[in-house]
Amino acid sequence: MHKIFVLFFLTFAFSVSAQKRTNSQKVDSVLKLMTLEEKVGQLNQYNDNNLATGPVTIDNDKIGQIKSGQVGSLLNVLGSERTRSWQNVAMQSRLKIPLLFGQDVVHGYKTTFPIPLAEAASWDLDAIQLAARVAAVEASASGIHWTFAPMVDIARDPRWGRVMEGAGEDTYLGSLIAGARVKGFQGAHFGDTNAVMACVKHFAAYGAAVGARDYNSVDMSDRQLWEIYLPPFKAALDAGAASFMNSFNDINGVPATGNSYLQRTILKGKWGFKGFVVSDWGSINELVNHGFAKNDYEAAFSAITAGSDMDMESRSYKNNLEQLVKDKKVPVALIDDAVRRILLKKFELGLFDNPYKFSNVEREKLALNNASHTAAARSMAAKSIVLLKNENNLLPLSKQLKTIAFIGPLVKPLKQNKGFWDIEIPGVDSNFIVSQWEGLQNKVGATTNLLFAQGCEIEGDSKAGFAEAINIALQADVVILSIGERRDMSGEAKSKANITIPGVQEDLLKALLATGKPVVVLVNAGRPLVFNYTADNAPAILYTWWLGSEAGNAIADVLFGDYNPAAKLPMTFPVSVGQIPIYYNHFNTGRPAVSDTNHIYNSSYIDLSIHPKFPFGFGLSYTSFEYSDLKLSKHQFTKKETLEVSVTITNTGKYAGEEVVQLYLRDKVGSLVLPVKSLKDFKKVFLNVGESKKIKFLINNEKLSFYNAKLVWDSEPGDFDIMIGASSADIRLKDSFELIK
Ligand code: BGC
Repeated sequence: MHKIFVLFFLTFAFSVSAQKRTNSQKVDSVLKLMTLEEKVGQLNQYNDNNLATGPVTIDNDKIGQIKSGQVGSLLNVLGSERTRSWQNVAMQSRLKIPLLFGQDVVHGYKTTFPIPLAEAASWDLDAIQLAARVAAVEASASGIHWTFAPMVDIARDPRWGRVMEGAGEDTYLGSLIAGARVKGFQGAHFGDTNAVMACVKHFAAYGAAVGARDYNSVDMSDRQLWEIYLPPFKAALDAGAASFMNSFNDINGVPATGNSYLQRTILKGKWGFKGFVVSDWGSINELVNHGFAKNDYEAAFSAITAGSDMDMESRSYKNNLEQLVKDKKVPVALIDDAVRRILLKKFELGLFDNPYKFSNVEREKLALNNASHTAAARSMAAKSIVLLKNENNLLPLSKQLKTIAFIGPLVKPLKQNKGFWDIEIPGVDSNFIVSQWEGLQNKVGATTNLLFAQGCEIEGDSKAGFAEAINIALQADVVILSIGERRDMSGEAKSKANITIPGVQEDLLKALLATGKPVVVLVNAGRPLVFNYTADNAPAILYTWWLGSEAGNAIADVLFGDYNPAAKLPMTFPVSVGQIPIYYNHFNTGRPAVSDTNHIYNSSYIDLSIHPKFPFGFGLSYTSFEYSDLKLSKHQFTKKETLEVSVTITNTGKYAGEEVVQLYLRDKVGSLVLPVKSLKDFKKVFLNVGESKKIKFLINNEKLSFYNAKLVWDSEPGDFDIMIGASSADIRLKDSFELIK
């Protein structure tokens, strides 16, 4: 195309008409100028050289390819200077179409927040939204436009390493959290300089991989897909999510990346999604490994036909799409649709007006050194800690204790607190982490003597450090033992068949308990672990997950009662891997288990309890709460009406604190079998000592509906049980009502 002609159109597209034309008209103007090669370029995403979250393809000509318009997006570009310099390369291309910078900002950018599963334990949507907001403020100042989050995969199997990235097992809780995270990332207005575009992943059903092996197949009924796995994606979309990522797994034999039912029929069809879908890392080319495509050419064909718009790292689109169009296998309209979706987001983000809009060294400095971000991370971390056990009110500890022994392999390390998706920004101090040791030091006064011994490693069988640990324990008033997983033991490709606490860490606990000293155990992990010895023998246990930059301070806040723990488990904790998958909202079966000792032809194990170690929704407080006065506004109503439910909660203990009041429903008889209970609402309420509050819930047709055999979301008349409790297994009040025609 003639240079002057191009320039004329560019001016027309980007500036003169900018005020008058809609973004989609602007997209069309640009599209008209593009060659097929440039169009395909927009669908091509490369990794920068720093980091890799998948197999790396060495490519020494990225600069040349960007200059010739063959790349639409880069991932893993860190820091405002680097994003700016890559953008500068794109500005040397013929059409100057800006690059989009994507990054896994999963639980914070510089300020690391608790891993998402831990945040989910807070059941605190405002706090979770704030955590995502802070991450967006920081990342966007570095020039990042797009985060590959939230991960909204429902996960019922703690062997799967990626449970750490999501909100756990429950669809209702997971959907609310998905929405909160999207709102946090995308901010008040899409395209604001302090916001990033969300990417909801992994579409879909990735969390149900057979045997919990990462990337494995999923075999699932449509009903389960719609009822359990899809709603968090829909909730994220309703919250405005601008992009989706597909997943590595096949579902019922069709890989998600080549899955037209998921991407075209459901997402872009039924749900009317106007954003774009990026493949997962290399997942287009992996269609060949799946045996779903004969070669890369066929893989590119399947993926584009099925609705995958952008190719992350596999180069299948770059190497094949032009040929597929020339061969008349792929209509150019399909490519145009994908390009349009991507360009639209670039316009909405404001990148055509100013491609460097987000990369700003000064703003970056301020954003990455903001005390309010640290405060938010500390508060989120404290809200994520689950008190699992507290015999004889051992916790909270007194600040007047004379000697505390802080023992374990996780007391002093910094990075172990950060979890799997932490980010190291070149040139930025990544030791911005408060270790557990430092947190304790910050908390106690000069009169408290703090002793430390590592005791053992996280892995391995050496007990050489036990003697020193026992020795300091004997000198102390109380022992705090910090044990658990290393931060790379849960995460992508970190599936485990054995999810017990590694090494000799529980042996160390045994040795310390033998001293007769009170021992508080901190369990650090990215997933529900199996730790029966600890659970049965330690007098006090805090499940501290991986809490991020402010881990040490937050743990100390909870240990000493400056924050009264209120978190509740977002996943069921099994007694043994033999129980997995185990989740609270199961069906009753025709022969329900009766007890752990009666196995006469019922649905139990003859060698194992069917009960979890800790149920979904469980978590203690330093205070106690009484539930009373469950009142229903009526006991019979139609689907057009709303039922009002009220309950009174009283703080009957000695500390102010919060309780997560949980409402479960059971539809007693249906045209399909339905769960024994399903979470349908909750409220987190703060109560001073002795205070009572009346909590109200509203039950409408939406809460009574399910996907019937025709996959229609609706309710059926009949009897329902309503259960209000402190966990899925601790139902305090119960009633029933009837839905009438
Ligand atoms: C993961 C995605 C991630 C991508 C880019 C993949 O391996 O599955 O969740 O966003 O890498 O880092």
